[in-house]
Amino acid sequence: MKVESIAIIGTGVIGSSWAAFYAAKGIDVKMFDVDADLCHKGHRQAVDTIRLLEAQGIIAGDKVEDCISRIETAAGLEQAVENVQLVQESVTENYEVKKQVFKALDAHTAANVILASSSSGLLMTEIQQVTHHPGRCLIAHPFNPPHLIPLVELVPGDGTDEQAIATMKRFYEALGKVPVVLKKPVPGHIANRLAMALWREAVDLVVQGIASVEDVDKAVSAGPGLRWAVMGPHMIYNLGGGEGGMDHFIDHFGPAVKTWWESMATWTTLPPETKAVLVDGLKAEMGDRSLSDMNRLRDEKLIKMLKILYE
Ligand SMILES: NC(=O)c1ccc[n+]([C@@H]2O[C@H](COP(=O)([O-])OP(=O)(O)OC[C@H]3O[C@@H](n4cnc5c(N)ncnc54)[C@H](O)[C@@H]3O)[C@@H](O)[C@H]2O)c1
Repeated sequence: MKVESIAIIGTGVIGSSWAAFYAAKGIDVKMFDVDADLCHKGHRQAVDTIRLLEAQGIIAGDKVEDCISRIETAAGLEQAVENVQLVQESVTENYEVKKQVFKALDAHTAANVILASSSSGLLMTEIQQVTHHPGRCLIAHPFNPPHLIPLVELVPGDGTDEQAIATMKRFYEALGKVPVVLKKPVPGHIANRLAMALWREAVDLVVQGIASVEDVDKAVSAGPGLRWAVMGPHMIYNLGGGEGGMDHFIDHFGPAVKTWWESMATWTTLPPETKAVLVDGLKAEMGDRSLSDMNRLRDEKLIKMLKILYE
């Protein structure tokens, strides 16, 4: 599939980041949002991101104006999808909203245009029901921010053609992304299920008064998080088993880990005190740094790590 033009529908956090990513790769982008002000805000954010990528040496200085000129806003969905080969839907995470958008996309695009949803955890099986051409509909879930994080989870719905998944896998690989393919759909896909399993325990440790928000965050980012950036948990524990690998790891640590699992949180609704406790703890962790300071810190450090890991 030769992709020269992409429509981004929904221009919030994720849509604007996708726009910057694709433009930086030399692809034309048309952005549309149901809220015209948010569409222009998303456009400004995408341009700022291009400039950040230049400042970090990811885009060459003489390419910046070309990248920026590739990003346009559209006054309507129909105009946004004109002559595109791919739609990256990034609207609000809600079945009704996504279904309404997919119905319109299905009506206004040729049947060979791939319709990819950025959904963090909805099922395409449900969304594609409203389309006449469900085979070209799939989930292509990025990790925030998609202009930096390589992972894209490709998830079929029951009606998705295998060919659409294979095409998108090749497409993302060619752009330097790291796509993973789910064999069957599950709410939250892979990465968010793993992230939320960890976050439940992280919340519980704070709510139970076992450690501060700051120390729980440090215990992840200065410890296992560093290893996870290099290898996933299965391979890490394979190495943790020494010469005996995973076989020995399970025999050695299995009984101890069973007692940890038995004492872990299993709730499915956040405890009522969670918000207050986390908001206070995060204030302490941030000190006098603002949210935009933290965003910049995240992106600058991520870029340095990504250069080592993926260049
Ligand atoms: N924020 C994240 O960390 C993250 C990460 C990966 C994937 N996602 C997924 O990306 C999608 C967007 O999330 P977000 O965080 O960017 O949300 P957001 O609230 O920042 O942006 C959503 C945008 O969609 C627009 N919108 C709503 N209905 C619309 C319609 N009918 N037509 C056009 N635009 C419409 C809204 O006006 C808004 O600007 C969601 O499916 C979410 O699950 C989010």
